[in-house]
Amino acid sequence: MLAKIGSAAVLGLEALPVDVEVDAMRSGQASMTLVGLPDAAVRESGERVRSAIRNSGLTFPGGQRITVNLAPADLRKEGPAYDLPIAIGVLMASRQLPPPALDKALLMGELSLDGTLRHVRGVLPMADMARNHEIETLYVPVMDAPEAALIPGLQVYPVKSLSDLVAHLQGFAPLTPYLADDHYFEQQPLPLAVDFAEIKGQEHAKRALEVSAAGGHNLMMIGPPGAGKTLMARAIPGILPHLALDEALEVTRIYSVADQLPPDTPLIQVRPFRAPHHTISHAGLVGGGHWPRPGEISLAHRGVLFLDELPEFSRRVLEVLRQPMEDKIVTISRAQGSLTFPASFMLVAAMNPCPCGHYGDPERACTCSTGSIQRYRQRLSGPLLDRIDLHIEVPRVAYDKLTNKAVGESSAAIRARIEAARERQRARLAASKLVCNADMGPGEIRQFCILRDEAQSLIRSAMRQMHLSARAYHRVLKVSRTIADLEGTEQIQSHHLAEALQYRARVLDM
Ligand SMILES: Nc1ncnc2c1ncn2[C@@H]1O[C@H](COP(=O)(O)OP(=O)(O)OP(=O)(O)O)[C@@H](O)[C@H]1O
Ligand SMILES: [Mg+2]
Repeated sequence: MLAKIGSAAVLGLEALPVDVEVDAMRSGQASMTLVGLPDAAVRESGERVRSAIRNSGLTFPGGQRITVNLAPADLRKEGPAYDLPIAIGVLMASRQLPPPALDKALLMGELSLDGTLRHVRGVLPMADMARNHEIETLYVPVMDAPEAALIPGLQVYPVKSLSDLVAHLQGFAPLTPYLADDHYFEQQPLPLAVDFAEIKGQEHAKRALEVSAAGGHNLMMIGPPGAGKTLMARAIPGILPHLALDEALEVTRIYSVADQLPPDTPLIQVRPFRAPHHTISHAGLVGGGHWPRPGEISLAHRGVLFLDELPEFSRRVLEVLRQPMEDKIVTISRAQGSLTFPASFMLVAAMNPCPCGHYGDPERACTCSTGSIQRYRQRLSGPLLDRIDLHIEVPRVAYDKLTNKAVGESSAAIRARIEAARERQRARLAASKLVCNADMGPGEIRQFCILRDEAQSLIRSAMRQMHLSARAYHRVLKVSRTIADLEGTEQIQSHHLAEALQYRARVLDM
C-alpha cells in the first residue's frame, strides 16, 4: 500500500513542501530504501525509524520491501526532521494505522531510538509555508510548538513521542492542540548589561552612540586602552529601540533556521547584539557551509554587530562585509544555486589608534614606530572605513570625571528619545519597507533629506574640503536626518548637518 505524508524542507530562510511517500510491498526479503536526494542524516533515518517503531510497542513490517521517496526529487533534503513523517508513513503503508485525514497536515520531528521526539530547526518558516499552502494541521515536537504557533490560523499539535501520535491518529488518546500564548507578543523588559548612567565622562561618545542607535548608523570608536570603548558598546542594547512585531518575526526566522533560538524563547523580542571574536572565519561571519546557514551578520539583522579590536580581524574577513553593508543582504553562492539572507545590521567597531594604544594621547607617549602604526591601520581598507558613518574619538577619562559622584543620564531616558526619533522615521518611511534612516536609498534621500540654502552651501564646501565620496555625502545626509529627528524637527538645518559632518572627520586620518 502507498502512503503519502506532508513535510517540509528548509532552503535558506524559506521552507518548501516535501511529500514523504512510503510504499510497502510483500517480498521475501525485508529492506528499506530511501530515495529523493537525501543527505547522510536523512539516510540514517531508516535505522532510527526502525528502532523507534519497535521501542514504541509497534511492529516494524517484516518480509516487506519498503521504499521511501522524498518528493520533489530535485530538492536536496537534509537533517533528521523527516523521521516522524517516514515512521508514520511506514505504519500507514503496512496498514497499522488507518489512512486518516493527514492530507492537509504537515509532520516534522527527529526520532530518538526510544520513540520520543526531538527538536528540529526551521519550524517557523515551515509553519509559514504551511499557512501559504492551505495546510491546516501541524504535528511538531513538543518544544517546537510555541514557535509553530507564532503563525496564526494553524492547528498545532505538540507531539511527545511516536506512540502518542499513533494513539491520537487511531483515536484512542487525542492530543490537545497548542494554545498560542499571546504574552510572547507583549514587550518584555530589556536585559540591562551596562547602564549609561555608570559611564563617566565621554559625553561626546555617548551622544554619537545615541545618534547611531536612533538611525541605525555604523559607528567606530577609537581610543587608548581602558577608555571605556568596550564598556560603551556593551551599553548599546539598553538604548536600542524596541523590535516591532514584523521585525521580531523576521529575526526569529533567521535564528530558527540557524538553530540558535534560545530555549523557551520562541520569539526573539530584543534587538540582537552580536559580538563575534576576531578569530571568526569568513563563513562564520557572512554565512556559508555545505548547507548554507546564516552567519553573524544575519544573526545581527535589525540589531548590532559589534567588532571589538577591529584591526585584529583578518583583512579578508573584513572585506566581505563591504557588499552586505551596502546592500543589507548577503548572497551565498553554491553549485546548486544561490541563497540570500537578510543582513541589515548596525556595525559598531572599536579599536586603538596604534599597536601600543597611546598615539595622540596627551598624557602618555606612543612607543610605536611610524611603520608599525601604518601597518596596523592598513589592516582596514578605505572602502570599509568609508561605510562607517560616525567616527569618534574616545579619550582617556580624567580622574576627576571618573570619581565624580554625579550620575549621568540613564539608558532609559536616552532610549525614550531614540524611540521618539524612530517613530518619526517609521511614519515617514511607512510607504516603503524601510524602518530607519540608515536603510534609505538614493530615492528616499532625495525625497526626505532636503537641504535649504544655508545647509546646502555648508555641505558644498565640506565636500570639497573633506574630499567626501558620493557615498559619504549620502551617509552624511542620512545622519543629519537622524539628528533632526532626535530634535523633533522635520527640516534638516545647518547645525544638524554640521554635527553629522563632524562625525565624519575621520580620526584615523589625523
Ligand atoms: N568612562 C568610564 N566610566 C566608568 N568606568 C570606566 C570608563 N572607562 C573605563 N571604565 C572602566 O574600565 C574598564 C575597562 O574599560 P573598557 O574595557 O571599556 O576599555 P576599552 O576602551 O575597551 O580598552 P581596550 O582598548 O583595552 O579594549 C571598564 O570595565 C570600566 O570598569
Ligand atoms: Mg576593549
